[in-house]
Amino acid sequence: MRKLMLSLLLSSLAMAASASVEDMYKSSCTFCHSTGAAGAPKTGDKAAWAPRLEKGMETLVKNSRSGIGGMPPMGMCNACSDDDFKALIEFMTK
Ligand code: HEC
Repeated sequence: MRKLMLSLLLSSLAMAASASVEDMYKSSCTFCHSTGAAGAPKTGDKAAWAPRLEKGMETLVKNSRSGIGGMPPMGMCNACSDDDFKALIEFMTK
C-alpha cells in the first residue's frame, strides 16, 4: 500500500513538472518557435537545432537570458529561471 501511494505521488509530480514546461512554452516561446518567426529554430526541427545544441546547453541558456539576433532577452518569459530555460530548450529540441 505504501509503495503504491509513493508511486502515485511520484507520477503525479512528474506530470505536474511536464505540464508546467508546456505552460511556460505556450505563454512565451511558442510565439516564435512554433512558427519560425524572425528566423527562430522551430520546435521539434532537429536539423535547425543541431548546430545550436553544439554550442552546449550552458551557452544556450545564457543566450536565452540575454537574447540573440531576433530573440528578445528572456524570450518573453521574465519569470523563467536557468532551469526553466534548460527544460524549455529540451522541450523544443526533441
Ligand atoms: C520574439 C520571438 C522569440 C521568442 C518569444 C522566443 N524566441 Fe528563442 N529565438 C528567436 C529567434 C529569432 C532565434 C534565432 C536567433 C538567431 O540565432 O539569430 C531564437 C533562438 C533561440 C535559441 C538558440 C540560441 C543560440 O544560441 O543559438 C534558444 C535556446 C531559444 N531561442 C530559446 C527560447 C526560449 C526558451 C524561449 C521562451 C522562454 C524563446 N526562445 C522565445 C525568437 C524568439
